Amino acid sequence: MPVSIAVIDPGHPHLAARVTNIDIAAGVSHEEAVAVEAAIDQFAVLVFPEQNITDDQQYDFSAHFGRMETATGDVAAPQERRLSMKMNDISNLDRDGRVVARDDRRRLFSLGNMLWHSDSSFKATPAKFSLLYARQIPATGGETEFADMRAAFDALEPSMQEQCRPLITEHSQLYSRGLLGFDDFSEDDKKKWAPVLQRLVRVHPSTGRESLYLSAHIGAIQGWPVPEARMFIRDLTEHATQRQFVYTHHWQQYDLLMWDNRTTMHRARRYDHTQVRDLRRTTVACEAPTVAGQEEPDQRVAAYTG
Ligand code: OGA
Ligand code: MN
Repeated sequence: MPVSIAVIDPGHPHLAARVTNIDIAAGVSHEEAVAVEAAIDQFAVLVFPEQNITDDQQYDFSAHFGRMETATGDVAAPQERRLSMKMNDISNLDRDGRVVARDDRRRLFSLGNMLWHSDSSFKATPAKFSLLYARQIPATGGETEFADMRAAFDALEPSMQEQCRPLITEHSQLYSRGLLGFDDFSEDDKKKWAPVLQRLVRVHPSTGRESLYLSAHIGAIQGWPVPEARMFIRDLTEHATQRQFVYTHHWQQYDLLMWDNRTTMHRARRYDHTQVRDLRRTTVACEAPTVAGQEEPDQRVAAYTG
């Protein structure tokens, strides 16, 4: 039976579809992977409900879609990690499976996921797709929201679109965490996360559609005074995250979500931090940087290349 694709919310006919008739644990065929990529090109966010999968099965499925990232965007030291470097640990658990304390550095860093962002925009070659799997979810809260950056670009005045097209922005995790007053970075973190350049307007390689490439990681626009740049990005972000552009995902255990970071931003919502939330992310990299000729931040610190 072919993979089934259905719009989730008729209010958002172009954002977010549910994918069924696919068994990820069993391993998917090339044809099924092609159907999934065609669907994400159209809907930008896909929900695969009721997938009972291991980390390896999640990784193998993700690897159909391109080169895999390693979890070098995480702040946990290698000896503190709960999961392998193949997985981004989007949980509130330590390596013994205990909920971390309220003031734990890893938790405070991960609160940055509650700011609207696009994954790995702080890497010269940023993320193409993210795949986030729900092992365990809190009773309430902890939704994930997605904003459609194609629709947001289309809704700008033509003169504003013209102004945005040539702009180059600087992205760093030091900027996004700085917004929250988090500055507990090691010297290696600071080196590893020195700013990278990204285009503000991207063109999707398959559909040819333009979209705004926004992220909380942006701290500057090349050639602009910093306060003016930050105000401009803040205005654009307010525009792009209006409710008409947003799909809210209410998690069910065993949902796998897949989204296109080139055409959407996302953010986590609050939940009771004493309850377990165990989500795991695999990440597929883009083919190339949006601005050519940059060194990858991961390579700036030898210890983190693994
Ligand atoms: C992520 C992320 C949001 C969430 O996994 O990249 O931003 O709701 N997650 O946990
Ligand atoms: Mn994210």
